[in-house]
Amino acid sequence: MKKIILTGDRPTGRLHIGHYVGSLRRRVELQNTGEYDEIYIMIADAQALTDNVDNPEKIRTNIVEVALDYLSCGLDPAKSNILIQSQIPELTELTFYYMNLVTVARLQRNPTVKTEIQMRKFENSIPVGFFTYPISQAADITAFQATTVPVGEDQEPMIEQTREIVHKFNATYGEALTMPSILLPENAASMRLPGTDGHAKMSKSLGNCIYLSDDEESVRKKVMSMYTDPGHIKVTDPGKIEGNTVFTYLDAFCRDEDFAEFLPDYHNLDELKDHYRRGGLGDVKVKKFLNKVLQDRLGPIRARRAEFEKDIPYVYEVLRKGSEAAEEKAAQTLSAVKAAMRINYFDSEELIRTWQNRYSTEE
Ligand code: TRP
Repeated sequence: MKKIILTGDRPTGRLHIGHYVGSLRRRVELQNTGEYDEIYIMIADAQALTDNVDNPEKIRTNIVEVALDYLSCGLDPAKSNILIQSQIPELTELTFYYMNLVTVARLQRNPTVKTEIQMRKFENSIPVGFFTYPISQAADITAFQATTVPVGEDQEPMIEQTREIVHKFNATYGEALTMPSILLPENAASMRLPGTDGHAKMSKSLGNCIYLSDDEESVRKKVMSMYTDPGHIKVTDPGKIEGNTVFTYLDAFCRDEDFAEFLPDYHNLDELKDHYRRGGLGDVKVKKFLNKVLQDRLGPIRARRAEFEKDIPYVYEVLRKGSEAAEEKAAQTLSAVKAAMRINYFDSEELIRTWQNRYSTEE
């Protein structure tokens, strides 16, 4: 069986380092293993519109921003198709058929949708399109017959719901869809990177993000003002690692080699943590180290972005070609789905002949 990756992001803003450790970094690694037969990376503009109805311009702008972030992180159009969801009409058609396989009660139980409804204060005025976006996400995944969906933990309920749809479809109409598996980040820190203020989630509205496109000075300023352990006041005080954002970021970003290069007094993160716990290690020193590590990771991304920014027509070309390749694949799946559902009326001469014979023999 072919190994196929599908994943994506809503284009509601530039991507930040939470996206990077939660999913982007992994995608690039997976892409470069060469183990996957096909890779599809989706800019989910139609999904973004489900809760940005009155702000299409924001989505339009951020398609380019997200594409630039992808390319600068190392997604390579020669290996990965980067596509725009709304340009693949097959996805909406699949969604419509899958809707018959899902109950309202099941959608109401989806934990991610539940939280989002609360966050957006939709209460009794939930747009139908928003409410059903998990079904459309199942279409995104199955249209490409994805075997592997590398995403953050918050997407787990979506993949679970997709698996149920695949199971139900295949059981009802015959095996036309591939059962996908989720691929979560390797470590807990990468699973959900907190904001620079220590808030559980990095989000634009909280102003606690470090963006992949931030310049060197902004990254430095954000790191130097990060939330640490509020009880660690004097350098000599013992400090806490748990809930200390600077250490969470180091967990997500730093490697042993970084010590040799930027902080040779220690060999690895465990030694640094031990010293911090004992007392005698100041926040500023740890933050300066984190800044060096981050600049080391973000520097090359920033440099590549600057190059791609000079050639926006190229970026659009990448998106157009990626969308075309994606549509071809989705069309194949849609045909298989329609055949399985027995709604492929014009596909076979056989069907026409059968009816012809039935009526012509009736004298
Ligand atoms: N829901 C995802 C997010 O909010 C974006 C997305 C849309 C997606 N379709 C997808 C992710 C399919 C993985 C697979 O980031």
